[in-house]
Amino acid sequence: MLISGKQYRSIWIDKKSEKVKIIDQRRLPHSVEIITLNDLHQTVKAISEMYVRGAPLIGVTAAFGFSLAMKEDCSEKSIKKAYKHLINARPTAVNLAWACKRVSEKLQKIPHIERKEYSLKLAQKMADEDVETNYKIGKSGLALIKSLAEKKREQTPVRILTHCNAGWLATVDRGTATAPIYQANELGIDVFVWVDETRPRNQGASLTAWELYHNKINNKLIVDNAGGHIMQKGLVDAVIVGSDRTTFGGDVCNKIGTYLKALAAWDNSIPFYAALPTSTIDFDLENGLEIPIEERGEDEVLTMTGENNSGKTENIKLTIEGIKASNPAFDVTPAKYVTGLITDKGVIKPNRDSILKLKPKLQL
Ligand code: MRU
Repeated sequence: MLISGKQYRSIWIDKKSEKVKIIDQRRLPHSVEIITLNDLHQTVKAISEMYVRGAPLIGVTAAFGFSLAMKEDCSEKSIKKAYKHLINARPTAVNLAWACKRVSEKLQKIPHIERKEYSLKLAQKMADEDVETNYKIGKSGLALIKSLAEKKREQTPVRILTHCNAGWLATVDRGTATAPIYQANELGIDVFVWVDETRPRNQGASLTAWELYHNKINNKLIVDNAGGHIMQKGLVDAVIVGSDRTTFGGDVCNKIGTYLKALAAWDNSIPFYAALPTSTIDFDLENGLEIPIEERGEDEVLTMTGENNSGKTENIKLTIEGIKASNPAFDVTPAKYVTGLITDKGVIKPNRDSILKLKPKLQL
């Protein structure tokens, strides 16, 4: 999508240097810094320290991590090492495990000599597939936005609330929750987005509002606690969020705070959707409460990072020394609060039957 009028993906191979490039998302929105991933170690660091983040993007980044590992050593041992380090870089988003399994299984089946070239081609293929998948998610969700637009009695835009960043920065391009929004906007449907700031890392404020701004989608940033209020006031037509892992029972795990938005949507009869590629579905898990929830450092809660008036990045303390914090990064929204799953295979009900029907259609 666009940054100051120029098309970007969130990860790509630079044609000249043939190096893996990423946007360092820790620096957004104040500065757009493009950095190179040179080896497996840097790739693992980029995922665990959130230079790149978002379930689909960390999966594709891991695929590039394998190709960097194969550049140095194509042995079985090297595949196993890359697998072990990449899969453990972050625990919650299942796309990471999905990508690691897919790439390592393929690599193990081919001769050593082909692994270097093949792994790069596979990573690029997975990046392209992600973009294609997001167009399909966009198409599935577009029908919902169109029907919301048609039902409107007044000339107001279709107002969507989203949480965290399930936009193009969380994927290779287009995003999941944002794909239907971008597609609706391209068709001339008036859309407006309420963006939750998403404490503690502020992905809504730093990433979602910024990417919507650069791609000319009207939006307003709200504090995380405002969602319930604006829903009660009739200012939200639908909630669309992303997902880090969706169980085959239909429970949706996503950024901390998503569950509370789902409860407020339920209480106000507002449809609540999760938009996700089928690689986000965990076909081995039915109960969302069994999903491992990443616990991040307490500094993210006790401090806040931003730009000061002199344009310098500053980290400030929100409280006094000695205060302790807890920082679970994700929560689980039970299927009963989810109206539908917007997938690349259509909009489906969040239940066992509808989800398990998808499984035979998927292939490695
Ligand atoms: O901790 P993050 O920034 O990786 O969390 C991201 C989210 O929770 C997204 O909503 C989710 O990964 C879906 S991205 C399409």
